[in-house]
Parts: sequence; structure tokens; C-alpha cells
Amino acid sequence: MKDVREEYHAEGLSEGHLHDNPVEQARRWVDEAIEAGFPLPNAMTLATVSADGQPSTRVVLLKGIEGGGFTFFTHYDSRKGEEIAANAKVSFTMFWQPFDRQMIVIGEASKVDEEESESYFASRPYASQISAAISPQSQPTSREWLEAEVEALQQQHPEAPVPRPANWGGYRITPTEIQFWHGRPSRLHDRFRYRKQADGSWVRERLAP
Ligand SMILES: Cc1cc2nc3c(=O)[nH]c(=O)nc-3n(C[C@H](O)[C@H](O)[C@H](O)COP(=O)(O)O)c2cc1C
Repeated sequence: MKDVREEYHAEGLSEGHLHDNPVEQARRWVDEAIEAGFPLPNAMTLATVSADGQPSTRVVLLKGIEGGGFTFFTHYDSRKGEEIAANAKVSFTMFWQPFDRQMIVIGEASKVDEEESESYFASRPYASQISAAISPQSQPTSREWLEAEVEALQQQHPEAPVPRPANWGGYRITPTEIQFWHGRPSRLHDRFRYRKQADGSWVRERLAP
């Protein structure tokens, strides 16, 4: 690993090209990654922190940027869900390697309303609805138990819609800080950090790489 070295050729990120609102800048970067056809352009590594201060991370999928925040869907009883219930402060990172771009968001997570979770759950493929509905996410289990539960629920609901379990839904992360990192040659990378002020405006500054 020590010998793996990537040279970044990108032209970089100039302040003049940045949107004044970092949420809109984030939308641009996600849209550009989607348009470029990258695999999993909406994958984000989400960090939560336990009540006793232990961070943990996992990949989830960004499903929307609206209401000034970033939405993903999961099980509320999962490890991440329990950690968010105890401490709403979270952070996530998205990395688009072909663009040499990294985006880091810091903020607070809150549950989206029931209708939003309901309508997203209903839009998922039948098999995904079944898997989400039977899974006690983050609990120890066995493959046999999972497959038996899938079969039982398929018999109960042979086709969509499968009822959404009450413990499955969305979170929206409202940002307090967003950083945009762009790789440049010789490690002299561009970094811009936006921090939300008490009056709701954003202050932007360049950070040393
Ligand atoms: C590419 C990818 C996408 C994923 N998307 C989601 C997702 O949108 N929601 C989710 O709950 N888990 C998703 N997972 C699974 C999570 O990484 C994780 O295993 C699960 O949410 C349980 O995490 P926890 O025990 O830390 O709460 C995804 C995993 C990968 C690798």
C-alpha cells in the first residue's frame, strides 16, 4: 500500500465556480457524478457516534437533496439509528475517484415525515420491500432464519405493496458544515469549507491541503 501513489491531474476547483450555497454545490457534484455514469455515484460513508463517544461508519445511499438537507433511508432500530437517537450529530463523506473529488458533510440527522418514508418505500422493488420488512437490521441472525422470513412474508404478500415496517424510514441530514476537496497535481489540492452562521448564511474559506 505504501507504494500506491496516484497523481491527480484535475484542473482543480476555483472559487469563482463555486455556488454560494453549499447544498446547491453538493447537488451539482452529485448530479455530475450521476451524469458521468460512475458506479454508485450516490454512495456516502456515514459516521455516527455512540452515546459513549465511539464513532462507527457504513455506506448508505443518498436518495435526495431537498429541504436544505441530504436524505437516506434505513432501519431506525439499526446501530446507526440507535446512535442517531442518542446523538443526532453525524458526518458523511462522498468520494468520486474519476473526478478526484471528495465532499464531506457535517450536520444533524432527523427523521423525515411518515408520508415521505411511505412513498419512498412503496417506490422500491418488491424484493427490496420484502427484505427490508423482514430484516431486524444490525441484529445477529442466520441465513436460514432470514430466508424463512422472506418466504413467509412473500406468502402473506405475494405482490407489492408490502406494508412498510414502522421502524424503517428516512433521515434528513441538515448540514452545518460542508467541505469540497478537489485533487490537484503534487498534492497541492483545493479545499473549500462552508460553515453555517447563526443567521443561516454561509461563510466560505479555502483550507490548506
Ligand atoms: C453500496 C452500499 C449501499 C448501501 N445502502 C444502504 C442504505 O441506503 N440503507 C441502509 O440502511 N443500508 C445500506 N447499506 C448497508 C449498510 O452499509 C449497513 O450494513 C447497514 O445499514 C447496517 O448498518 P449499521 O449496523 O451500522 O446501522 C449499503 C451498503 C453498501 C455497501
